[in-house]
Amino acid sequence: MVLVTTCGNSEKLAQELAKKLRATYSPLTISAFPDGDLYLKFNITLKGKTLVIVESLFPHSQKSLLDIIFAAETAKDLGAKRVILIAPYLAYMRQDKRFHPGEAISSKIMAKLLNNSVDKIITIDPHAHRYRNLRDIFTIPAVQLTSNHLIAAYVKKHWKKAVLLGPDWESSQWAARIAEEVGFESTILKKTRHSSRHVSVKLVKTVKAVSLQGKDVVIIDDIISTGKTIAEAAKLVRRLGAKTVTAIGVHGLFVENALPKLKTAGVNRIVTSNCIEHPTNRVDVVSLLVKELEKER
Ligand code: R5P
Repeated sequence: MVLVTTCGNSEKLAQELAKKLRATYSPLTISAFPDGDLYLKFNITLKGKTLVIVESLFPHSQKSLLDIIFAAETAKDLGAKRVILIAPYLAYMRQDKRFHPGEAISSKIMAKLLNNSVDKIITIDPHAHRYRNLRDIFTIPAVQLTSNHLIAAYVKKHWKKAVLLGPDWESSQWAARIAEEVGFESTILKKTRHSSRHVSVKLVKTVKAVSLQGKDVVIIDDIISTGKTIAEAAKLVRRLGAKTVTAIGVHGLFVENALPKLKTAGVNRIVTSNCIEHPTNRVDVVSLLVKELEKER
């Protein structure tokens, strides 16, 4: 029997998933002792059951990671047969190398902690740029799903013709692939990241030059965090004559006033998937997760 829960970040998604799987949804009680220590309690019997924890690691990525570990360890202690973590948004993946001497390679540490506590991890469009796949850091079964087909369906439904644009080479796995799927033109910018809050972008000359004059441009990236990347890309495509600019992000974090920043940069429409709950959610990933979990039965 499958039980579905969340540590609090993915309530809607967890409930929806449980409904579709006809599984029991049981929320955890998570609070803090007066001194800040974590208090966690299951409100259902776990003996012999498979527990699915649905939890995107945003907001509060550090607390969320610790909540997951406490929940998984407690579930096993209480006799759960298996603990599967669905982390639609997996934080810490961007720090995938030591960019400067002395830095932590956060993605490896996060994976090590989860390897010790859960039996399997399922995630969607992780920021796995310098890793060949998740097996580079996970020793437990690790499934990497993509929302590409769902975004492609959204694009197809809303535009007859548009230019899909990736703000950096890493984003071509979304922008260029989705463009291929829907048969639209695409182009990729070259991004230089000067710091975590300062980026610049420029149009790179491709074999097939794409004009943006008078076109609907859809910028696609995996993460919208401070919004700086998309804002810089939007300003550039506006200067190049784009008629409308839409931003699609798989994971919408929207920190540090990202939304007003995007509007000021000339973005008309902002769309995200429900990997992270947000009012801009238009792309529903539940079907992806249901399909994957049905393999468990
Ligand atoms: C980085 O390579 C990612 O794909 C995103 O482009 C980045 O995380 C976006 O961050 P921000 O919104 O802060 O520019």
